[in-house]
Amino acid sequence: MTYTVVHDAGEVVTGPADGDRTLDTLTDAAVVIEDGTVSEVGPSDEITADYPPENADTAVDADGNCVLPGFVDSHTHALFAGDRSDEFEAKLSGKSYQDILADGGGILRTVRNVREATDMELAEGLRARLDVMLEHGTTTAEVKSGYGLDTETELRMLSVIDRVDETHPVDLVPTFMGAHAVPEDVTSEAYTESVLTEQLPAVADQGIAQFCDVFCEADVFSVEQSRRILEAGREHSLTPKIHADEFTRLGGSQLAADLSAASADHLLQSTPEDAARLVDSGVTPVFLPGTAFGLDGEYPALEPFRERETLPAVATDFNPNCYAPTLGFAATLACVGIGMTPAEAILSITERGAAAIESSDGSGTVRPGAPGDLVVLDAPSYRHLPYKYDVDLVETVLKNGSVIRS
Ligand code: NIG
Ligand code: FE
Repeated sequence: MTYTVVHDAGEVVTGPADGDRTLDTLTDAAVVIEDGTVSEVGPSDEITADYPPENADTAVDADGNCVLPGFVDSHTHALFAGDRSDEFEAKLSGKSYQDILADGGGILRTVRNVREATDMELAEGLRARLDVMLEHGTTTAEVKSGYGLDTETELRMLSVIDRVDETHPVDLVPTFMGAHAVPEDVTSEAYTESVLTEQLPAVADQGIAQFCDVFCEADVFSVEQSRRILEAGREHSLTPKIHADEFTRLGGSQLAADLSAASADHLLQSTPEDAARLVDSGVTPVFLPGTAFGLDGEYPALEPFRERETLPAVATDFNPNCYAPTLGFAATLACVGIGMTPAEAILSITERGAAAIESSDGSGTVRPGAPGDLVVLDAPSYRHLPYKYDVDLVETVLKNGSVIRS
């Protein structure tokens, strides 16, 4: 019998508590992983009697520390090239994100850098960023295209994501986001047509992308254009996601509800009515507090979702405008900026993250049948993760039962 055992944990967070948005935890517990999947979770003394650490393939002594599910980052733009640090400075001196984009900077600048980069350079950059994410506990991450804005480069981005996924321990979920910005010298309408008639069919033929996402925003893609793209995406078996109500309440979250999208992300300007429609339609709301922190510190409203007993996912939105790759920091911002409890923040980066990418394999939980993706903190309780926000608390990461970081 071959197995991995993580024993003598002071606390194991197994997932959401039944019927409520708090955490289920076990104290003095152990976890067994067989064939990459969690097979047992229970009292450490009982588990180690049946699965002795000395006979294990891999044994991890958690030494009284906290074991969490591997973190699930449901929204990233982690595949990019170039350097936009000067835009951080420009924003500090009063330039807005939209001004920078309108001047050909922002996303459009990253598009130029990505088009010029080789596949090898793109893959190396993505791998290096995933290494950092993994070191900080992320074991599954969604990654969007959207810095190509032409068929060739969008396909290239998706194939780099696919190739890196095969060789990097972090599991990647690829999203096609040809409608991320409108390229220079073309109208939004003409570009929408090219997404519909050229990019989407090619992306569907390529067969890598799982989701289709649109930046539904004033001066980018209208609600009507977003609807056409997401509906066409669905016809090509791509599940809709949407960047909604970030700077303006254009109606993106209502569109997400109409389409029963997998998720609606950002939601800075959404109203309680929008929240109600999202919840009623089963759309997972996704908050991106790292982006809010770097813009003007205005956070999305949690209360309308709490009132409806729905906890949003929290993701990093890791991109050149939000250089914040760790979900631990996102969890801190979820507490301090958004007002989540530490327990909610942990759920928002684990089980809720998995919901936002429609994962059904138990990712984001530590329960029998779930993937053997675990994080061992250098701390006795999950509360320390959002609390110690400038400390690297992740001591060990296991992916499918193998120790990847220790
Ligand atoms: O989610 N808002 C649009 N897209 C990204 C930013 C991408 C970029 O600025 O490069 C976001 O914040
Ligand atoms: Fe984004």
